[in-house]
Amino acid sequence: MNNLTKEQLESILENIDLSKAPSAEDETMRQYWYIKKAREYVSSISEKIGRKLTCNTVTFGCQMNARDSEKLVGILELIGYEELDDEHADFVIYNTCTVRENANQRVYGRLGFLHSLKKKNPHMMIGLCGCMMQETHVVEKLKKSYRFVDLIFGTHNIYKFAELLVTRFESNRMVIDIWKDTDKIVENLPSERKFSFKSGVNIMFGCNNFCSYCIVPYVRGRERSRNPIDIIREIEQLVADGVVEIMLLGQNVNSYGKNLDNPITFAQLLREIEKIEGLKRIRFMTSHPKDLSDELIEVMAKSKKICSHLHLPVQSGSSAILEKMNRHYTKEQYLNLVEKIRKAIPDISLTTDIIVGFPGETEEDFLDTMDLVEKVRYDSAFTFIYSRRTGTPAAAMEEQIPEDVIKDRFDRLLDRVQKISREMSARYTGTVQQVLVEEMNTQDESMVTGRMSNNLLVHFPGDASMIGNLYQVSLEECKGFYYIGKIA
Ligand code: 5AD
Ligand code: SF4
Repeated sequence: MNNLTKEQLESILENIDLSKAPSAEDETMRQYWYIKKAREYVSSISEKIGRKLTCNTVTFGCQMNARDSEKLVGILELIGYEELDDEHADFVIYNTCTVRENANQRVYGRLGFLHSLKKKNPHMMIGLCGCMMQETHVVEKLKKSYRFVDLIFGTHNIYKFAELLVTRFESNRMVIDIWKDTDKIVENLPSERKFSFKSGVNIMFGCNNFCSYCIVPYVRGRERSRNPIDIIREIEQLVADGVVEIMLLGQNVNSYGKNLDNPITFAQLLREIEKIEGLKRIRFMTSHPKDLSDELIEVMAKSKKICSHLHLPVQSGSSAILEKMNRHYTKEQYLNLVEKIRKAIPDISLTTDIIVGFPGETEEDFLDTMDLVEKVRYDSAFTFIYSRRTGTPAAAMEEQIPEDVIKDRFDRLLDRVQKISREMSARYTGTVQQVLVEEMNTQDESMVTGRMSNNLLVHFPGDASMIGNLYQVSLEECKGFYYIGKIA
């Protein structure tokens, strides 16, 4: 599934003359030149070995990475690779995350396994990209101890993937291309959607907030917003291709548009997107509480398409810790915001992220977080153990919290948020809700699995023909974090 149709993509490639140099002015056309070039290499290897070459992309981390991986797969398929769903492929790419240390450890662990596969397949190539590659010490380690990796690139030059691949085909060494930052956004490259009926849409890249624990601003660079016209055009193309639900993606969508030549607000963008005919549902993530405007609340309250869900990371319930985190709000301000949102949109589902064990967190600070959780009553909360990220201000703070203290707090918090989440989830029992069917149920083939506007899953009797359609479903029984229902 692609934004540009197969025919459109083929006709772009047909018009490219490989005997001429790639365009120097038009980056999009330059990349199509390299796609065509890479296609030649792939097809000549295919001919030699008598089968199609295969690829596999493994995504670590957030929705932003998932969307980037779709772009990688879009390029790979156009080049002539066939996608596999495991790593026994001719080209394996890990799109990495580095937001917490355990994400890095998982990548190193799995690279050992990839090496063993590569020893058995002389055509195999290994690529690494994403946030972890933006860290100098990671690339140094790879250069020293993981020489079998073929291609390493970062978050800023993912659009150059085909070009880098051609460089690798034309040389016999490890190709490394990492940029510190970029102000460039390259439009109209291919992408391959994982789901036919829903899609992520980037509206901005990077982050300017520098929360003191977070590595994202260092690995994703400064905030850049896409032009509204490019976003709208992409969504219109997606809708024409069968998409009914979109997820607008940005590290902090509430500051969308501020740095455009003609600044517009996120709420204004939503108003425009709402007008797109055929689009049924709009989601977005992530909202920073400090920038959530009254205008946005108003647009959400009035909208027929924006889902009844807001992910509003709080990170901590202690005003002292929030200040050290550089979050720019207090516990009270956050609680007031929640109250304002609930007043305007009474049934909204609120979810959050919470970090336990930030440097200097006292038992009292932690109890403030517990208290906030009791007051807000989140529909669900992602809880994280603080992870020290080299280069961030918090990594240098004194008073790092001992592991056993963090673990104890983490368990208490998890217990509490899960209990509340179960109670909150159950509040729809007996009601009829609109559900978008996403897939066949993995356990019972007479059932389908879909998602409500508030993001909760519902399993109900159905078949594959229902995937991608909306149904009114009667919610009969809540099983903790999901429902069993039947068509109303
Ligand atoms: N340690 C633990 N959790 C973190 N997050 C970001 N950085 C860290 C860190 N160093 C969490 C935040 C953020 C989510 C995506 O990841 O809660 O909202
Ligand atoms: Fe990290 Fe804060 Fe930016 Fe989110 S807003 S990506 S937590 S720095």
